[in-house]
Amino acid sequence: MDTQLVQKYNIPGPRYTSYPTVPFWDKEGIDLADWKATTVRAFNESNDEEGISLYVHLPFCESLCTFCACHKKITKRHDDVEEPYIDTVLKEWDLYCDLLGERPKIREIHLGGGTPTYFSSDNLRKLIDGIFVRADKFKVTQFSFEAHPNLTTKDQLQTLFDLGFTRTSFGIQDYDVTVQKAIHRMQTFEQVSKIDAWTREIGYDSISHDLIFGLPFQTEESIRDTIRKTIELKPDRIAYYSYAHVPWVKGVGQRGFDDNDLPKDEEKRHLYELGKQLFFDAGYVEIGMDHFALPTDSLYKAVDSKDLHRNFMGYTASKTELMVGLGMSSISDSWYSFAQNEKDLGDYQRVVNEGRLPIYRGHLLSEKDLIVRKHILNLMCQLETSWEDESLQLDEIDAIKERLREMESDDILTIYDNKIVVKEEGRMFVRNICMAFDLRLIENRPDTRIFSMTI
Ligand SMILES: C[S@@+](CC[C@H](N)C(=O)[O-])C[C@H]1O[C@@H](n2cnc3c(N)ncnc32)[C@H](O)[C@@H]1O
Ligand code: SF4
Repeated sequence: MDTQLVQKYNIPGPRYTSYPTVPFWDKEGIDLADWKATTVRAFNESNDEEGISLYVHLPFCESLCTFCACHKKITKRHDDVEEPYIDTVLKEWDLYCDLLGERPKIREIHLGGGTPTYFSSDNLRKLIDGIFVRADKFKVTQFSFEAHPNLTTKDQLQTLFDLGFTRTSFGIQDYDVTVQKAIHRMQTFEQVSKIDAWTREIGYDSISHDLIFGLPFQTEESIRDTIRKTIELKPDRIAYYSYAHVPWVKGVGQRGFDDNDLPKDEEKRHLYELGKQLFFDAGYVEIGMDHFALPTDSLYKAVDSKDLHRNFMGYTASKTELMVGLGMSSISDSWYSFAQNEKDLGDYQRVVNEGRLPIYRGHLLSEKDLIVRKHILNLMCQLETSWEDESLQLDEIDAIKERLREMESDDILTIYDNKIVVKEEGRMFVRNICMAFDLRLIENRPDTRIFSMTI
C-alpha cells in the first residue's frame, strides 16, 4: 500500500519555504517603492514586540560538491573576495537602516551559504560588529550559522560564540566513502567529531547535523552506518533532507554522477523510513518536514507552543514579521511582500556600491495570497489548518476540499467542515497536501520541470 502511495504522490512540487513560491511570483516583479513601503510597514508593526530577523548569505566555498543546489561561488582566493564582500553587505545593511529610521532590534541572525566559515574570524567579527553599529539585540536572540566541518577552526567557533551565536549546523550529508567520492565531498567522522567536541566545549546550546537521503550509491547499509555515527555525537537537531535533484537549474554542478546511480522512488522512501525509525529509536522527535530534534531542543518546544515557523531558512522556533536578507541572491520577507537580491556577485556588488537596494525580482502579496500563505504555513508547521476564523475563508475552499478527497480516501488526512488535519502517516505527503491550496500553481500549471520531487 505504502509503495503505491509513494509512486502515486512522488511528483514535482515546491518545498514551501514561501507562498507564493518563487517561480510563481508576479512576472512583472515588485516596484521598489512597494518593497520599501511594505518593509517599513512590517518593521513598524513588529520591531518592538518581536524584533526582526537577518539572513546573511555568505556564498563562497573552496570546492564544489556535485549535489549542491545552493547559490555559491567556488574560489580559494580568500584575499580577493572576503573583505570586499563584507564591505558590500554592510553597505547594503546601511541602506536598510536608512530606510527603517529607528534602530532595528535583531532577534535572529542566520549566516547561510555557501560556507560562512570560509570567512576568517576577523572578517566574521567585522561583519557582526558592523551590523550592530546601527542595531540593538532583541531581548531574546537566536544567532546561528552553517559550518563546513572541513573548513571550520576552533577560533572561528569561539569568535562567533563571543559575538552571540549559540547554534550551528554542520553539513555532513553522508559518511560513506563511495557516496562522498560521487558527490565530491570527502570528510571523515574523526574530523566531524573533533569540530563537534570543540563546539560543545565552547558552550553552544544547539548543534544540528545535515544529512541527505537519496544521494548516489546510498544503500540501506551505508545509511545505517551514517546515522549510527551521527547519533553517536547526539546532535540536538538533525535535518534529514530528501536529495533535490535539479540539474536543469544548477547546471554542471550536479553532473558528477548519473541518474542511474540514484536510489529510485521506493528505495529512496525506504531510506527515509529507515532513518526516521533510527532517529525515533534514539529519542528524536520529527518536526514538520525533514527535521528531527531532541525534546530538549527549542525546535521541539516550539512545536508544543505552536510557535514553529517556516521561512527561507527552513524551520525556525519563532516568527518575525520582517526578515531582511543581505548578500548576493538573498531573499527578504516582509510578510506582505518578498524580494530577491541580484544572483550574480558582480551585479550585486555594483548595485549596492551605487547606493541602491540590489533587488532584482519580488512579489507583492494579494489579499488572497496572504490567506493561502497562512494555510500553507499551518500545514507545514502544525500539520493542520482551519478556516473557522472569518479572516481565513477562501472562495475556493470547496474546490480545495475536492482536490483533497482522494488523499482522504488514501488515509493521508481527514477533512472536517472547517478544517483539515494531516494524519501521522500523511506527514511525508505534506508538500502534496499544500499543493491543493496552491492557487498560483493551479492557475499556472508549469509545462516544464521546475521543482524537485516531493518524496
Ligand atoms: C548551503 S549548505 C551550507 C553548508 C556548508 N556549505 C557545508 O557544505 O557544510 C546547507 C545544506 O543544504 C543541503 N543541500 C544542499 N544541496 C542540496 C540538495 N540538492 N538536496 C538536498 N539538500 C541539499 C545540505 O544538506 C547542506 O548541508
Ligand atoms: S554543500 Fe556546502 S560546501 Fe558544498 S558546494 Fe554546497 S554550499 Fe559549498
